[in-house]
Amino acid sequence: MSRNAEDLAALVRERAGDAPVRLGLILGSGLGHLADAVDGVAIDYTELPGFPHAGVSGHNPRLVIGTLSGVRVAVLGGRSHYYEHGRADAMRLPLEVLKALGAEGLILTNAAGSLSPEVRPGDLMLLSDHINFSGLNPLIGEPTDARFVPMTEAHDPAYRAALRAAAQEEGLPLAEGVYAWYSGPSFETPAEIRAIRILGGDAVGMSTVPEVILARFLGLRVAAISTITNMAAGMSDENISHEHTKAMAPLGAVKLERILMRFLGGLV
Ligand code: HPA
Repeated sequence: MSRNAEDLAALVRERAGDAPVRLGLILGSGLGHLADAVDGVAIDYTELPGFPHAGVSGHNPRLVIGTLSGVRVAVLGGRSHYYEHGRADAMRLPLEVLKALGAEGLILTNAAGSLSPEVRPGDLMLLSDHINFSGLNPLIGEPTDARFVPMTEAHDPAYRAALRAAAQEEGLPLAEGVYAWYSGPSFETPAEIRAIRILGGDAVGMSTVPEVILARFLGLRVAAISTITNMAAGMSDENISHEHTKAMAPLGAVKLERILMRFLGGLV
């Protein structure tokens, strides 16, 4: 844990109180609304030196600490993507701060394109696993042996079971599949999407995987859910754009929020 993370955690505790955080949440494009439901304190990333200047529209770069469904959470309202600056480890400090605040786990959300004809825009997909299609890794340069992180059960089986159960209790369908990380920021070509399908990908997106790797490095349990905003390139006539992603993400957001609230309620 870096000195900087300990200092920032102390700063956050001064503002938001000493009670340990149980869980971290990262909200993807167009999914920031959940932060408003947290009863707590919001701290802008600009007040947290070293936090990324999350510059992607559709994100709300603030840390919100408080209670959601009876659980003390730390919500990261914006993430930094590799494609913004070429650094795969840009979320390391925020995740170290979550860990220093006491978090035992991290729930990630994102917007993604679907490669599965049955999983359509507006649907949700729980990540059973992922493929690092980018070839990048946020732990390159980490000097300790801790860099050799096992990724066999990176997506925590107990969290996934609890999320499946939460969806069922809410009467909401929740697909499950493999997410492929493509660096972006250009979208994929149809040939790349065909390649990812052959390799076993069910959804594709430009985030989340580096955060999963960093979280596992820090010993956090992880689960992630994608909101499907479009069929992947070449799979439909629909246009693919960031505008479209932002416009479509709210379709899944309300369902996602219900599932996450139910999941949190089950942790109490
Ligand atoms: N590809 C990559 N990232 C995405 C997509 C996509 O089709 N949709 C939303 N984010």
